[in-house]
Amino acid sequence: MLLQIPDVLTSEQVAHARYQLETSKWVDGRVTAGYQSALVKDNMQLPEDHPVARELGDMILESLQRNALFVSAALPLRVFPPLFNCYRGGHSFGNHVDNAIRQIKGTPLCIRTDLSATLFLAEPDEYDGGELQVEDTYGCHSVKLPAGHMVLYPSTSLHNVQPVTRGARIASFFWIQSMVRDDAERTLLFDLDTAIQRLSLDIPDHPAAVQLTAVYHNLVRRWAHV
Ligand code: NI
Repeated sequence: MLLQIPDVLTSEQVAHARYQLETSKWVDGRVTAGYQSALVKDNMQLPEDHPVARELGDMILESLQRNALFVSAALPLRVFPPLFNCYRGGHSFGNHVDNAIRQIKGTPLCIRTDLSATLFLAEPDEYDGGELQVEDTYGCHSVKLPAGHMVLYPSTSLHNVQPVTRGARIASFFWIQSMVRDDAERTLLFDLDTAIQRLSLDIPDHPAAVQLTAVYHNLVRRWAHV
């Protein structure tokens, strides 16, 4: 499932992030690429342990913890500390799949990448190109969102970033290990949760809502690994 999550950050938070990022020193993005993706990756990144990356990363993680849509869709177990990249002057990232396992720098902790996230920090009219293209069984999806909005997609998907031919595309990107590893099971849980919430809004206190909620939790019990 590919899902857009609006307003993960407020416009004030985006402005704060942009100011911090514009005054930081960026490095070649190949530092976090595997062997194969290093061949197609051409962008700039903030070093993983840069204090600005950590401060802004914590701000993003705090917002996500409070974001009901994110929690319902991702059922997060662990979230990789957010990274930051910048594409400008023709930078692009060819078709690739993200590494399955990532170690969190400076710790022995590893996460399995079940979901990939891109949080846009530049407005679409600030740059030309830079679409994130994600392939799934229904074809290729092109994503370019307003600043502060995020896209979530299965890390099993082939994806690329189109060349940026004007301006700069600034974004945060990271991965989530979900309590429910399988995308199809996670999508069923998300659809069920969404339907229960709509039912509860339209017909408060309907007894079926309790039964459906029990089904939801019993499926989580069956499918989740914590
Ligand atoms: Ni990628």
